[in-house]
This record gives sequence, C-alpha cells and structure tokens, in this order.
Amino acid sequence: MKWERKTGIVLALDVAERDEAFRLLDGVAGMVDVIKFNYPLVLAAGLDIITEVGKRYGKPVLADFKVADVPVTNNRIIRLAAEAGAAGIMVHGFIGIDALRSALEAAGELKVFIVTQLTNPGGLEFTARFTEEFAEIAAFLDAAGVQAPGNRPEVVKKVREIVGPELMIVCCGIGAQGGKFGGAIGAGADFEIVGRAIYQSPDPVRAAAGVRDAIAPFLK
Ligand code: XMP
Repeated sequence: MKWERKTGIVLALDVAERDEAFRLLDGVAGMVDVIKFNYPLVLAAGLDIITEVGKRYGKPVLADFKVADVPVTNNRIIRLAAEAGAAGIMVHGFIGIDALRSALEAAGELKVFIVTQLTNPGGLEFTARFTEEFAEIAAFLDAAGVQAPGNRPEVVKKVREIVGPELMIVCCGIGAQGGKFGGAIGAGADFEIVGRAIYQSPDPVRAAAGVRDAIAPFLK
C-alpha cells in the first residue's frame, strides 16, 4: 500500500545534529508526509534518532541508506533499519537481481525503494544507462517503489510507464538540485524529496509552506 499523501513532500532531514533535527521538525513536520534520513545524521546521532522521530511525529521514516553491498551485509543493514522503526529503505538497483531479491525478503514489511538514476550529473554517466532496467526489475520483484530523478521529469514519466500505477515513485533533485516543485509529481511521481530548499532557508517553516503551496496544484 502507498503511503498517505497530503502534501507530497518527503523531508530530507540532512541537518548536522539531533537538536537541529528536532527544532526543524517541530516547525515543519505538519507539512510533510514522510521524513527521510541519510547517513550523515544517523552516523552523528545514532540509529535511535529514527525511532524517536518516528514516534514523536507519527510519520513514516524513509532510511535513504542507498544499500549496495553483498546480500549478507545488505540484509543486516535492512534489518537494523527495520528494528529502528523505519518504514522504508532505499536500495541501489545495480546490486543485481539476487541481492535485490534477498533484500526484499530481509525487508519483510519494510518498504524497499530501488534507486533508478542518480540526480547528479554523474548519474547520467552510469546509472542512466540502466534506469529502465532498474524500473523493470522493481516492478518484476514487486518492490514498494523506486527513486527517480525529479530534476529530469521526462525520466520520471518513463519510469512511471514502466512500473505502472501501484509502485510508489519518490523523486529527489527538487529545489537545490534544479528540479521544479511539482514537476516530478506532475510527471507521475508520488512524492518529492526536499532538503536544502527547506532546512537551509533562514525561515524553514515559511519555506516548507511555500513548497507545499507550489506542489499543491499538481496533486490529484
Ligand atoms: P536536497 O538537499 O538536494 O536533498 O533537496 C536531497 C536528498 O536526497 C538525496 N538524494 C538522492 N537520493 N537518489 C536518491 O535516492 C538520488 O539521485 C539522490 N540525489 C540526492 C540526498 O542525499 C539528500 O538526502
């Protein structure tokens, strides 16, 4: 089942430490649907911050750990994220079908999102060659969803055609990386990941409200 969508915003909680994270969330959590963690904050604050944030704000937590190792290691990371209370995890598509299958088994109820294409210019060098295959594998393995590059809406559209309506598409590359707010959702994504455009603003609450209002016309 897809996560509930009210604003379409996945907040990338990429601040440096826990007090800053809670200050930011106290202001903006009501305007976001999902809270996404990446390694830097978890390495700095410990995995328990995922548990605390999930309980305190009652939103699904996406562990953007870009899992990309051999199955035995991938599966340990996945189980740790699940035990901490994450609701989803990001796994690279290039690890191959055996590792993806194993990751999905290890994940159980934890939703697995397969990365299809990185948003940075280098994403066009390598990942872009396999974007369609990664999307096909995600659909074939019945993953919960995929990541797609929100700064390339034509790719999001193609990925949606491939994965069909049931899989969730989450898109990064919005705001600081050049993608327009609402552009990825307009192209078929479910959620837009937004980090710096909110937490680097001098007024994050106002910035989040602006992002919410910009995305709103694209929500059906
Ligand atoms: P910003 O500050 O650019 O934050 O709004 C974006 C967040 O998303 C992560 N990110 C990606 N995640 N594929 C992903 O799965 C990508 O191509 C990608 N590009 C950025 C980034 O690490 C940050 O947490």
